[in-house]
Amino acid sequence: MNDYQEFITKVLKKTGIDLACYKEAQMKRRLTSLYEKKGYKSFQEFFNAMSTDRALFDEFLDRMTINVSEFYRNGKRWEVLEKKIIPKLLEKNKRLKVWSAACSTGEEPYTIAMILTKFMPLSQIQVLATDLDETVMERAKKGIYPERSLQEVPDDIKKKYFTKDGIFYKVNDEIKRTVTFKKHNLLADSFDSNFDLIVCRNVLIYFTEDAKELLYKKFSAALRPGGIFFVGSTEQIFNPPAYGFETEDTFFYRKAK
Ligand SMILES: C[S@@+](CC[C@H](N)C(=O)[O-])C[C@H]1O[C@@H](n2cnc3c(N)ncnc32)[C@H](O)[C@@H]1O
Repeated sequence: MNDYQEFITKVLKKTGIDLACYKEAQMKRRLTSLYEKKGYKSFQEFFNAMSTDRALFDEFLDRMTINVSEFYRNGKRWEVLEKKIIPKLLEKNKRLKVWSAACSTGEEPYTIAMILTKFMPLSQIQVLATDLDETVMERAKKGIYPERSLQEVPDDIKKKYFTKDGIFYKVNDEIKRTVTFKKHNLLADSFDSNFDLIVCRNVLIYFTEDAKELLYKKFSAALRPGGIFFVGSTEQIFNPPAYGFETEDTFFYRKAK
């Protein structure tokens, strides 16, 4: 076993995180630059240090999980969600079971909740938001963001659901209450079922082809027939029928009935 593979085995044993499911060259580069910066000479040395140093472990987690996000990321896609996808989903069900998987710092689930307010009262909105990284979810729960995270937010939504506090913007409590944050590892934990809408964007791109295929199957099984799977703007699925999906629109897949 080489240095990196041994590291992968030990990290899996210690944390349940399987680095073998992430594209190797990219992950190795990210982690090597971190351990070298910290003065270690090998993955083994780095693992030993990380085992007893919580702050170093948190840095490792921060480096391996890429947490960038923003509200209404790729705005045009959210327009499709609002104008086409949600109205169609609501023809079947008046309440929607929604999951933002790999939600990072919360911009994505809050965006979903803000869009849903156009269709139903706040009391009927419930969005499950999950991520592997508990530190980013603590930030998500606070709901405080710099202006650059809001670049794509429409003005009416900005006025209605954010409060400006110095150089930051705070998501209003009424929106915060609609989102439940939970720790969840896509590669290891079981999936809930009967979702109408699953949004999983800008994380599949980091996984190997095998891991991606497994996840497509699990997401498909987690949707109710007719439910929608919304992926990131570089994450087109090449053979949707292999996973029981039909293409509904670019980056939106409908679970076949
Ligand atoms: C680039 S962010 C995407 C945030 C948001 N979905 C968006 O598109 O703006 C990727 C997120 O995936 C999470 N992640 C990485 N591996 C994961 C796993 N195995 N299970 C759950 N979340 C994971 C990271 O912690 C990170 O917050």
